[in-house]
Amino acid sequence: MAAADADSTVIVRDIDALRRRIGAWRRDHQSVALVPTMGALHNGHLTLMARAQQMADRVVATIFVNPKQFGPREDLAAYPRQESTDFQMLAAAGVHLLFAPDVATMYPKGYATSVRVAGLSTMLDGAHRRGHFDGVTTVVTKLLLQAGPNIALFGEKDYQQLTIIKRLAVDLNIPVDIIGVPTVREGDGLAMSSRNAYLTAAERARAPALYRAITAAAADIAAGGDITAALAVAREKILQAGFSKIDYVDARHEETLARLKSIREPGRILAAAHMGNARLIDNVAIQRV
Ligand code: PAF
Repeated sequence: MAAADADSTVIVRDIDALRRRIGAWRRDHQSVALVPTMGALHNGHLTLMARAQQMADRVVATIFVNPKQFGPREDLAAYPRQESTDFQMLAAAGVHLLFAPDVATMYPKGYATSVRVAGLSTMLDGAHRRGHFDGVTTVVTKLLLQAGPNIALFGEKDYQQLTIIKRLAVDLNIPVDIIGVPTVREGDGLAMSSRNAYLTAAERARAPALYRAITAAAADIAAGGDITAALAVAREKILQAGFSKIDYVDARHEETLARLKSIREPGRILAAAHMGNARLIDNVAIQRV
């Protein structure tokens, strides 16, 4: 990767400026990695940036809190926004360019197009957050077309999102490699997420139970345990830990996200549950022994 420092990190807000800068790098045969985010950056995001730096000459981060992926009763207004702190973090991490457009730049007056990945977008999180993934796929398609990167990186923490984005890039023949990066966890196992900020101290202490429960279920299934029984035990543990509601805890095929029928298939356990004002999601691979 070409070196960048705090003084050389640039922020652009319009699409022409983004294209000019990335176009110059591409004409100079430099490879470009795109890391889309909604800001409120944490170590999980910085791990994505570090991986991007290993894989490409230039790293472009985006910060855009995309209104189209929030439902009417969701946390769009409350979503944490801290652009100047985020910019300092990106500069310290050696990111070359930050694209931070406003809503009118991404969705100008008259905007009417939506991108939908059928099937994958309406199961699991899509069944509980109707329209959410259409908002994600619409904005990610736009970002990929605006930036034209060689690769784009997304965290495995949002495993369903990652699966859907891989599908859309293939289906729409977008010439980009979509790279999944393993989830970054706190010391007690809680997956890093901007939404962890919604947890009170007491809730934060109980929240890692979600990861522990699905990890135990994955180990049980991998060792030959019954899938339905292992998932029922995990649900019980999650509720006992103080989560108020479970949206889903399910074992799915790691590529198609169809229900896992047998341990012979590559599988993953995905979960979403509510604790106080936070809705936490997590997932783990079922490591066959
Ligand atoms: O994962 C996120 O932060 C968002 O869904 C993404 C991919 C940046 C699209 O807004």
